[in-house]
Amino acid sequence: MQPTAPQPGNHPEARPAVAPVTGETPVPRPARAADFTSPYTQRGPHSHFRRDVRSRTRLFGVLPTSLTLPPIGFLRTRQQVKFQAGHQPSAAKEARNTLELLPHCGYEDALRDLAGFERVWLLWWFHRNEGWRPLVLPPRGPIQRRGVFATRSPHRPNPLGLTPVPLLGIEGRTLVLGPCDLVDGTPVFDIKPYVPSFDAFPDSRAGWIDEVDAAMREPPKFSVSITPAADAQVTWLRAHWSIDFIPRLTELLARDPSPHRTRRIRRRGPHRAEIGCGAWLAEFTVEGTVVSVLSLKPAYPLTFLTREGYQDIPDRDAQVAFLAEWPGQLAADDVRCESWP
Ligand SMILES: C[S@@+](CC[C@H](N)C(=O)[O-])C[C@H]1O[C@@H](n2cnc3c(N)ncnc32)[C@H](O)[C@@H]1O
Repeated sequence: MQPTAPQPGNHPEARPAVAPVTGETPVPRPARAADFTSPYTQRGPHSHFRRDVRSRTRLFGVLPTSLTLPPIGFLRTRQQVKFQAGHQPSAAKEARNTLELLPHCGYEDALRDLAGFERVWLLWWFHRNEGWRPLVLPPRGPIQRRGVFATRSPHRPNPLGLTPVPLLGIEGRTLVLGPCDLVDGTPVFDIKPYVPSFDAFPDSRAGWIDEVDAAMREPPKFSVSITPAADAQVTWLRAHWSIDFIPRLTELLARDPSPHRTRRIRRRGPHRAEIGCGAWLAEFTVEGTVVSVLSLKPAYPLTFLTREGYQDIPDRDAQVAFLAEWPGQLAADDVRCESWP
């Protein structure tokens, strides 16, 4: 099996349940039940929650302790790593993706009449996750943990994802889809038509997300300045590689530059901090309400960037060329990348 692109900072995401894409569309290896059993049946953190659930299911005596669902197919996309997938489909990188349904299952017939729908719901498995957390830290809004069931976090007791996706076409057993927030190889369990009259309630209250949206309409509290040294790197990235993450970086830092795990902001010494933006890092300082961006650097360690078989790393060639231009800017190899809302 070919190696998959590692994540910045050795993130444990790089553990595919299916063969990774290398050039031609690969054939996913047959799904195994062990890939998709509930985390309650696995070892790891939060085992006290699992024990609790097991004893209660025994008590009630009616429910099985786990259910096994075979996937109906796998998503194929150029989104190899999580930050490329975006927090929801509207923020996804790739405009065209495919869902390849498994052969010999009668799915050609099951797709009949679906082509008339503009969107479909996908129900899928966060197969690159480990474990779950009852309280999670959303990337947007104040630094406040929320109950996982009040969020769209991937770290759920049963890591099921739910995504409405534009349906661009159907070719045999393959669905051609628009932007979606799934990574390559994601197992999909079901497809349902998106029916606006059933599924859309745009005026419904949205709890803490309404509060965050209201706060985002207020002017930002910090101003962000790019130092001349960082500006030279920004200009070089734009000119040579058409890479520009400065608007996103500025938006995040102007709201709140405090250390934040899911926003990939971490302290780097008493006066410095670092933020991850896609495959890149930016070092900055904060004085009063002014954030100064000092320099940029690749998020991936040089050992990964230059290793044979890791061509799928996002912006790989640009990162290697950047290091040739600014050899001092090596990534710390322990920077973590986590991207979910
Ligand atoms: C916040 S979740 C939302 C998913 C879905 N729209 C939902 O609401 O259930 C989207 C994020 O999940 C992560 N993700 C995508 N596919 C994944 C997979 N197969 N395993 C683990 N995480 C995945 C990516 O980081 C992506 O940005």
